[in-house]
Amino acid sequence: MPRIAYVNGRYVVHADAAVHIEDRGYQFADGVYEVCEVARGFIVDMPRHLARLNRSLTELSIGWPVTSGVLPLIVREVVNRNHVFDGLVYVQVTRGVASRDFVFPSADTKSSLVITARKVDPMVATRRAETGIKVITVPENRWDRVDIKTTGLLPNVLAKQKAKEAGAQEAWFVDPHGNVTEGGSSNAWIVTRDGVLVTRSAEHGILRGITRTTLFEVAAKLGLKIEERGFSVAEAKAAREAFLSSATTIAMPIVAIDGDPVANGHPGSITLSLRQAFFDVAEKSPA
Ligand code: PDD
Repeated sequence: MPRIAYVNGRYVVHADAAVHIEDRGYQFADGVYEVCEVARGFIVDMPRHLARLNRSLTELSIGWPVTSGVLPLIVREVVNRNHVFDGLVYVQVTRGVASRDFVFPSADTKSSLVITARKVDPMVATRRAETGIKVITVPENRWDRVDIKTTGLLPNVLAKQKAKEAGAQEAWFVDPHGNVTEGGSSNAWIVTRDGVLVTRSAEHGILRGITRTTLFEVAAKLGLKIEERGFSVAEAKAAREAFLSSATTIAMPIVAIDGDPVANGHPGSITLSLRQAFFDVAEKSPA
């Protein structure tokens, strides 16, 4: 059974799927995307992800490729055609195909829509959460609009490659004030000695993660307090716990930062309780 991708109105065999060489996503990274987790046959927090997609499109004046009502149906169809029970679905919209020119193409240029889905063994993340992951820190070098989920991810690619080469699984960007902004593909959190969750405000400098938003509700359910503020690398190293959040990792314990252990170097119990309670709170749309 071959994998199937959706490309501009057609369901095609994944291996043969292609976009035009003058797609602005390919030439300028002039596009936006979303990643939703698929867990036990449900698409996790899809309305929130599609609302953020709408925001990203609006911020960049990219038109919707299909009506907003139809998009969830196509997302579901791609998940189902690929028989994804656990895994992820990727949605990408670019400004479309036009002769290469920096300024926006003519208003009748149709935006491009690509949707793919793939299976991921959920035990991989479960096992990772049992041991915890390592992060390194790198200087923040991204543009000012990281609140928009664009496909322009070269600093993130380089940071995550550096992490991999250092034996770590994520890189935390650190702003000029010494505060952590976020990870290459995740939001950053710590738990203070008093058991308070701390994560940077999403008003500036980070992507407002959907998992982050849902974790606010999970924390409320568990009676945990959250402070939205910056924290330094030193504060994170001295914290009771540290973790990251993203659609594909949920709440993932961090046990080392730049080679130094966080607390006792083991996954934190608060992080694991957030992880455990996540699916009770997250919105689950049937695929
Ligand atoms: N990345 N910050 C950045 C820079 C991200 O790329 C992501 C997600 C997040 C977390 O957002 P959310 O909780 O909505 O997944 C924060 C996805 C998973 C990716 O690029 O694959």
